[in-house]
Formats: sequence, C-alpha cells, structure tokens
Amino acid sequence: MAENMMHAVQYSSYGKGVAGLKHVEVPIPRAKKGEVLLKVEATSLNPLDWKIQKGVIRPFLPRKFPYIPGTDVAGEVVKVGAGVKDFKAGDKVVAALTLGSAGGLGEFVVAEESLTVARPPQVSAAEGSGLPIAGITAYQALTAAGVKLDGSGPQLNLLITAASGGVGHYAVQLAKLGNTHVTATCGARNLHLVKSLGADEVLDYNTPDGAALKSPSGCKYDSVIQCTLGVIPWSTFEPNLSTNGKVIQLTPNATAFMTYLVKKLTLSKKQLIPLYADVNKKDLDYLVQLVKEGKLKTVIDSKHPLSKAEDAWAKCLDGHATGKIIAEP
Ligand SMILES: NC(=O)c1ccc[n+]([C@@H]2O[C@H](COP(=O)([O-])OP(=O)(O)OC[C@H]3O[C@@H](n4cnc5c(N)ncnc54)[C@H](OP(=O)(O)O)[C@@H]3O)[C@@H](O)[C@H]2O)c1
Repeated sequence: MAENMMHAVQYSSYGKGVAGLKHVEVPIPRAKKGEVLLKVEATSLNPLDWKIQKGVIRPFLPRKFPYIPGTDVAGEVVKVGAGVKDFKAGDKVVAALTLGSAGGLGEFVVAEESLTVARPPQVSAAEGSGLPIAGITAYQALTAAGVKLDGSGPQLNLLITAASGGVGHYAVQLAKLGNTHVTATCGARNLHLVKSLGADEVLDYNTPDGAALKSPSGCKYDSVIQCTLGVIPWSTFEPNLSTNGKVIQLTPNATAFMTYLVKKLTLSKKQLIPLYADVNKKDLDYLVQLVKEGKLKTVIDSKHPLSKAEDAWAKCLDGHATGKIIAEP
C-alpha cells in the first residue's frame, strides 16, 4: 500500500447491513486546524452506527457517501493540526468523532481536539474506546435521574433496563457510585455479570416478573434508565413508578414523544423524558478518570480485527452484545 494510503471499511448507500460494507484503500486524512490525526488502536461500535446506515437519521446523516462509520475511538496521536495545544505526536488518547465525518473503521482518523482526551496507561485502548457514546449517555441519563455520583443526596430507587448492553453496563456501575438501590434487567445468561457490576437485584427479562419490570424487593422506582433497543410501553412502567417517578427514554419513538407531551401537558407527577446524549470532552475525561481509578470498567463483548469488521457489525446489528463490541486495525 502506498505510504499515504490506509485500509478502511466504508459503505456507499443506505441499507444492506453487513453486505453494504466494503474494504477499501483511501488516503490517510489530514489534520486541519484544531484537529489531531490518530493512529486508531480500537473503535467501539454503537447501535447508532447501524441505525445511520439504515437511514434512520436521513437526510441528515450520513452527509455524503461513501461513509466510513465509527465514532468512538482510542489511539495514538500521529500529527496535530494548527492551533492544537493539548496534544503532541505519541500521546495516547480517547476521542469522540463527530457523526458527520466519523471514520472510526479506518487505520487513521482525524478527531477534533475539543472532543479528544488524554488516555492514561491504566486505560487500555479497547476500554477507552467504549466510553464516548455509551458511557456519556449512561452518565447523562443518571444525571437526569437526579443521581449524584459523589454519593450525596437521598437514596433513589433505580431500574436500569438492558443492563448487560453498552449503555446499561456503564449505567449500573455509575449508579452504584451514587446513593442508589439498583434493580436491573438482562437475559438469563448475564444475571451473574450484572450483579457483579453492582446491581442490588437483577431480573431476567424473559420471565413474567422481568417482563413486568417488577422489583423482587417490591420497591417502586424513582427513575428508570430505559436502555432496551425496543420500546417498552408506558403501561408497563406506570405501576412500578414511585409517585414522582420518571422514565428516561434513550430510544424514543413517536409513541414515547406522545407520552412525554401528554404527561407534561397534564402536569402528571410521573414523567417520561426523552434523552439524547450531548457528547462532550468534560464528561469523556471524567469517565476516563473513573476507569483509571478502577471505579468503572468496560465489559468487552468481543474484539474483531478491522479485516473482519463485518463480524463486529453483524454482532452490533444482532442487538445481543454483552458490553462493548470492539474493532481493532
Ligand atoms: N439517546 C441517546 O443519546 C442514546 C445513546 C446511546 C444509545 N442509545 C440507544 O440506546 C439503546 C441501547 O444501546 P446499547 O449500546 O446499550 O445497545 P446494545 O449494547 O446493543 O444492547 C444490547 C443488550 O440489550 C439487552 N436487551 C435487549 N432487549 C432487552 C430487554 N427487553 N430487556 C433487557 N435487556 C435487553 C441484550 O441482552 P440479551 O442479549 O440477553 O437479549 C444485550 O445485552 C439503543 O437503541 C441505542 O441506539 C441512545
């Protein structure tokens, strides 16, 4: 391969799933003003990656084809663009790439300095790459639920659904840094794992009580962090909520927005809150520090070489990851 070229995986149209991915040789991107060029060491996938390919956010994303997907990366700085102050060649980092350009499924990628944080040696590339979207979403959902991670504040009863997934497994660990009682749902094969992450009680979602989201100890939830890909109807949450209980909905559909509006307009004490993560440097740095301090870990579902990125994509599409799916050049 020529010196200025790299291997990447891209797609050129909406749809087609794994079959739409193509291995290509493309020029190594250049770091412009305020950007750093990274040699990618690990990229974690999110359901958002295949949702963009499916056309869920069309016509906004992708902005143009071909598109190299992947937004959550860890790697080493190779070059810095003009005006970059905080990084130099050789620095290990974690970066959140903007959705417009993405590029994580390539050997090199440019990241904005404003969305890049230092990665200490205690945080592996794979662990760090899991954090941007999934970790920040979990953190911001807990903030919306009123949880203070320094342990201050009154005890809150939380339900975290899909606690074995990318967002859910971070949410359980972060919630337990605060003053919380955590009920979690997952499949039977992950009951032990989710308990080991700190959940106080764990429900198998394939049992009647699990499907009904009923706490084994009988507690009513002050907040639900709703992490399942599929939508759970309000009628299932409602009887399990405390008087002022709220559902933080991470995958809101039209019905969820309707419920949100109705609850707001009727001044209902029980609320549904659609949440979209605001990916930012401060929160990413905070999470990297927690991993460094051993207070948070990334559960790795699987690692796949970039040459087999299709396997990682298929796993993500399947919706049954335990923790994060990682691709490595
Ligand atoms: N709003 C935002 O800003 C934002 C940000 C990030 C993610 N999201 C969305 O949040 C959702 C979750 O993302 P993710 O990365 O955590 O997905 P993920 O890693 O693909 O989640 C997979 C996990 O969900 C579990 N699961 C599936 N259905 C379940 C159910 N009914 N009850 C309990 N567990 C269930 C699966 O367990 P089994 O394998 O046992 O079935 C699996 O472990 C996605 O829709 C994603 O797009 C939104």
